[in-house]
Amino acid sequence: MSKHLIQFVRDYFGTNEFIPLQAPIFPGREKEYVMDTIESTFVSSVGAYVDRFEKDVASYTGSPRAIATVNGTAALHVALRLAGVKAGDLVITQPLTFVATCNAVAYCGAEPVFVDVDRDTLGLSPAAMEQWLVENAQLDAEGVCRTKLDGKAIRACVPMHTFGHPADLDGLCQVSRRWNIHLVEDAAESLGSFYKGQHTGTFGSLGTLSFNGNKIMTTGGGGMILAGEALADRAKHLTTTAKKPHTYEYIHDEVGYNYRMPNLNAALGCAQLEQLEQFIAAKRVLASSYCDFFHGSDLQFFTEPEHCRSNYWLNAVICENKVQRDALLKSTNDKGVMTRPIWALMNHLSMYQNCRRGNLANSEWLEARVVNLPSSVLLGSD
Ligand SMILES: Cc1ncc(COP(=O)(O)O)c(C=O)c1O
Repeated sequence: MSKHLIQFVRDYFGTNEFIPLQAPIFPGREKEYVMDTIESTFVSSVGAYVDRFEKDVASYTGSPRAIATVNGTAALHVALRLAGVKAGDLVITQPLTFVATCNAVAYCGAEPVFVDVDRDTLGLSPAAMEQWLVENAQLDAEGVCRTKLDGKAIRACVPMHTFGHPADLDGLCQVSRRWNIHLVEDAAESLGSFYKGQHTGTFGSLGTLSFNGNKIMTTGGGGMILAGEALADRAKHLTTTAKKPHTYEYIHDEVGYNYRMPNLNAALGCAQLEQLEQFIAAKRVLASSYCDFFHGSDLQFFTEPEHCRSNYWLNAVICENKVQRDALLKSTNDKGVMTRPIWALMNHLSMYQNCRRGNLANSEWLEARVVNLPSSVLLGSD
């Protein structure tokens, strides 16, 4: 299988050189817009491209507002603060995610609670979340969801749309509403992915995106907070050192953050966003080719969940077991075709190993089996 896969990937990308997992491309107006910021001298955190990028992302995602940040981790940190997450609180999330999801929780002084994912979405399972809450939580007299054990507030839940595939958002909206918990979507990987026609990251109180160099489109480094009007105003304030608008006075009314995206990066973002649908079309052609390639084999190619349009940011296969997974990783990487295992579960990392958790059978099963395959956009394939 590995030998055939390596040949398939080489033929698809038309090269005998090293093939990365996901490389950015800049075939549009990137240079023009970036040069424009240099010529204008507005390269830093104020400038026309930041405003334009925020408007363009809001319009593309259908979010009432979008606030640009220096990266996706910073976006999630601020989104959690705006959802009211404070020191000593708990935040439900999935163990199968990139570490930034949990780090943002930790930056608030809160602790993640790990709840299992569903195998058909790779995202937080509403049934597992409901079960953990029934066993461990109750609503207090003010309607705050608290643990039965020690009365800690469970302030938010953070599903993550793994590799661009939307989690079960109907289910998650219902469970979080029933338990009075803020839904904050980590949509870092799912720009361009829709659940029942609605963009991921727009279902809860807040959602966040990442434009890191490895994402479906990039600003070099960058992120975005998706929110309604009131929370977006607060997000803008908190990410710009909490400075009160004034022509010349420096008045800051709380401890804010220097998390604003520079204009230089936003310029790159505006140019990339113009091509996003084209990038997604190319990703979907590649995914469909992988799907045909793996048809009838003992490796299961992961396809978009029902009622969703996934951006197929990173393609993934599920191996039969860890031995097969390890053999696939070794043979492909030895031959210059980059593949990667899914992340180690967050509860296996030293700083999160003592966090509360439910039964994580699906996450553990996937951790031993999932491999990501080369997924770069190849224009002309769509
Ligand atoms: C699931 C997830 N959350 C958060 C982040 C953080 O984004 P950034 O690297 O822009 O800080 C990333 C990606 O890097 C991610 O994949």
